[in-house]
Amino acid sequence: MSAPSDSQRMEKIVSLCKRRGFIFQSSEIYGGLNGAWDYGPIGVELKRNLKNYWWRVMVHERDDVVGMDGSILMNRTVWKASGHEGTFVDMMRQCSVTNKRVRADQVESQSGTIFRFAGARGDDGSYADVAIVLLQKKGEHVETIRRRAKEAFLRVLKEAGARSKDVVIQSETTRQVENSIDFHPETGGELTEPRAFNLMFKTYVGATEDESSLTYLRPETAQAIFVQFKNVLEVSRKKLPFGIAQIGKAFRNEINPRNFTFRSREFEQMELEYFCRAEEGMKWLEYWKEERLKFYESIGIPREKLHVKTVSDEERAFYSKGTYDIEYDFPFGRQELEGVAYRTDYDLSQHQNASGKSLEYFDEETKERFIPHVVEPSAGVDRTVLALISEAYSEDEAPDEKGKMETRVVLHFHPRMAPIKCGIFPLLKNNEGLVAKAKEVVDLLRPHMFVFYDESGAIGRRYRRQDEIGTPFCVTVDFETLGEKDEKLRDTVTLRERDSMKQERIAISDLLAALSVRIA
Ligand code: GAP
Repeated sequence: MSAPSDSQRMEKIVSLCKRRGFIFQSSEIYGGLNGAWDYGPIGVELKRNLKNYWWRVMVHERDDVVGMDGSILMNRTVWKASGHEGTFVDMMRQCSVTNKRVRADQVESQSGTIFRFAGARGDDGSYADVAIVLLQKKGEHVETIRRRAKEAFLRVLKEAGARSKDVVIQSETTRQVENSIDFHPETGGELTEPRAFNLMFKTYVGATEDESSLTYLRPETAQAIFVQFKNVLEVSRKKLPFGIAQIGKAFRNEINPRNFTFRSREFEQMELEYFCRAEEGMKWLEYWKEERLKFYESIGIPREKLHVKTVSDEERAFYSKGTYDIEYDFPFGRQELEGVAYRTDYDLSQHQNASGKSLEYFDEETKERFIPHVVEPSAGVDRTVLALISEAYSEDEAPDEKGKMETRVVLHFHPRMAPIKCGIFPLLKNNEGLVAKAKEVVDLLRPHMFVFYDESGAIGRRYRRQDEIGTPFCVTVDFETLGEKDEKLRDTVTLRERDSMKQERIAISDLLAALSVRIA
């Protein structure tokens, strides 16, 4: 069986996510909402397993980190002081064909022949001035580009409500350009000069909608940690170095949401702000980069698919003394999973200056007062979920009920991340003894892990259904369990492992211990 190409692989992943209840398009019955996604019954378990494990490793298993949960809406001054209101922007250019915006860094310049059509009459007799520019690419026949330009022009007018038969092209010009001009890579439309576009979603707090009530949905969770720094420090009585961790929603009006959930407008972050002395900033940056790589490996993402990019001076925020991006080889290319940034004392200083409230740390030993520096590992929940699914997806061959080989879709999740830990099946659904025993096994395991009881269809089918959602173990209760074939096998079950498909006979009394060590 040949391996699917990367784009086929991505299509299969998206379709599996919908079919099996990992991820659905938001507001799907109304045509969706670009950049927003809903997690279904299986997806929500995977996402929770990831967040809970991050919390366990980053907060519970450490003495130097505490957690918090900040609000999404904050005083607008937070965003002024943090610099987001002024500078959290993408440079955008508007396309003359679609009137949509495109990121300035995603367009290229070209030279060639420009075809420009303008003017059209809608069925109400109105005049619409729509200009369309398409470039003749090198070697492209002039008539081909002319047809392409005209089709695009008519499409735009139709979208604007005009019926094609009513459309009248009032002028058509052709111009040869020597110097390159900027055009939209897909529509061929001419692009305006770049303009700054703020990525924060605006909203109004209270009944009046004016400047005085304006604020934003938070574009990162980090700022709540900075503005609560003093409160958390006081109640936790931590000494430097120490961290404050948070998991929560963030919102960015991304111009071009894409690659499934990878770039969304609403997403979740898992952020740690680790406060330290200035002279130790670079040391902690290195430390956290390594810790975070270990984390990804411990959830089943192999080291060879992870890459550390040192963010260059030009790309780095001006206040950062060093930033690493941890990248993963997604099916659509190598992309950022997490940023680990040494943000210096920039954020706390900004908030101290803007609020007039001291955000200094007092060192009891040296009797010094100073603003701590901070190192921030900031990971995306949705991106990591997508990496987990991409990494886990596989197709192999397995025998069907009659022993004929068939394609098996299987998600090889690390048992720690798997949405369902164990499937529990009675061999037959119409045998009271088998059903009762299987339900006993459910009751035994349920307080310790998420299990799924399934009595419908042939056993092979039930295994396949669990393979497809990455359930690492399945238990089957059969007649041997009831002691009907061999008294020695009474109260034993078959435990089947997803990846090897191997089955072992195990006493029900040993089941919980055997599974617990494997999913810990
Ligand atoms: N507080 C620092 C910060 O927000 P960032 O690099 O802008 O830094 C951190 O974001 C992480 O949040 C990214 O590495 C990514 O995993 C996730 N993230 C950012 N924008 C996202 C988006 N539009 N969709 C999904 N995840 C996103």
